[in-house]
Amino acid sequence: MDRILVRGGHPLNGDIHISGAKNAALPLMVATLLTDESLELANIPHLVDISQMAKLLAQFGVELNINGNPKAGSEDGRLLTLTTRNVTSTEAPYDIVRKMRASFLVFGPLLARAGQARVSLPGGCAIGARPVDLHLKALEAMGAEIVLEEGYVSAKAPYGLTGARVAFPFVSVGATENALMAASLARGETVLENVAREPEISDLAECLIAMGAQIEGHGTSTIHVQGQDRLHAAHHRVLPDRIETGTYAMAPAMAGGSVFLKGARVDLIGALLPVLRQAGIHVEETEDGLFVSDKGGRHKAVDIETEPYPGFPTDLQAQFMALMSTAIGTSHIKEVIFENRFMHVPELTRMGADITVDGQMAHVKGVDHLKGAQVMATDLRASVSLVLAAMAAEGETVVNRVYHLDRGFERIEEKLGACGASIERIKE
Ligand code: EPZ
Repeated sequence: MDRILVRGGHPLNGDIHISGAKNAALPLMVATLLTDESLELANIPHLVDISQMAKLLAQFGVELNINGNPKAGSEDGRLLTLTTRNVTSTEAPYDIVRKMRASFLVFGPLLARAGQARVSLPGGCAIGARPVDLHLKALEAMGAEIVLEEGYVSAKAPYGLTGARVAFPFVSVGATENALMAASLARGETVLENVAREPEISDLAECLIAMGAQIEGHGTSTIHVQGQDRLHAAHHRVLPDRIETGTYAMAPAMAGGSVFLKGARVDLIGALLPVLRQAGIHVEETEDGLFVSDKGGRHKAVDIETEPYPGFPTDLQAQFMALMSTAIGTSHIKEVIFENRFMHVPELTRMGADITVDGQMAHVKGVDHLKGAQVMATDLRASVSLVLAAMAAEGETVVNRVYHLDRGFERIEEKLGACGASIERIKE
């Protein structure tokens, strides 16, 4: 497996183009299952998770066509055209689903379009148990008959799905997306209450509307959907990645220097900006992005707690912890979305960070400097937190298992390297 070698102490200076959002692109790709006409998605990032989803969709008879091969600095991501004339299979096998939990998003659309689905249960993953009970309850309320057998969820809706009122007991991004897509082809009205308000949900809703769906209330906690007999062709541009934006917005405070995050949408990182400013980092919104610079000297400790959108995203918690590991003072970081999302702690500690974990809370006592080490992480955001820490550290850091980074950060070594970071991929 490839590794990333980072030599600390090289300040950043330049532009970083923000890619299309992985977590918007994945459900958008799945939306192809809802129509026999072509769905064209622009600004698709070049990531392993996207290829995995393409591979899964191909199994259902989806024809995929990709154009464009963006280089560092290019403005346009890839254009992906997906066409599902007929659904030729309704089974999502364990081998693919276990590698990427977002695969479970095919469940609702397959049921809605083909009247049946057999999808492997995703099982536990590195950041926690992550069950799919909310997805199943929503589809059951819409009339699906569901059986769990041999690690698979098998479901039938031979007469199609029917609109229903679904009140989620707590907020789930994936369950909201699954229910929203299914409801677009259900008979009658569906009301989804206590839904996730993440921007990726609104992006999906906008695309479904372009495909002919009738949806209101996305971006709020209640969504109304009037089901349609069929959806049609559409073109949609994937919104910029707010997690990539937030990650690179922390980079100058770690490595020194300044970066302009081109194409970043500042409205998507509303919870992060005040926290960065409180830490003493200079952030400036412009019409076409975000300018971030290190003010010199060490930044200050700030406390955060992860929350569903519009709160502080769990997907930026690891990166923020890396940032806080060199702050002046002690930062208290509470993770409430996932029960096991502190796997970066032992790795940051190997680099000299002073962190203690007590249940959902991590206490990060800022140290003067970090030191390079051999590190690895078992999830995507944890891995990138180590790259940030490595840029701040003295000496060399080797981040092992780059596979995780490739799942969610497009050409990270090119993007940071172009701004002066000393970062290279060691091919195995
Ligand atoms: C999405 O995961 C994202 N993935 C995650 O990003 C992100 O961390 C998460 O939302 C929270 O923002 C994609 O969009 C592809 P949830 P998802 O359902 O939909 C529990 C990354 O690094 N839950 O909102 O799986 C669950 O265990 C990834 O890009 C149930 O109990 O998250 C968790 O504790 C990691 N039952 C909480 O809810 C269910 O049926 C929130 O999960 C569903 C979820």
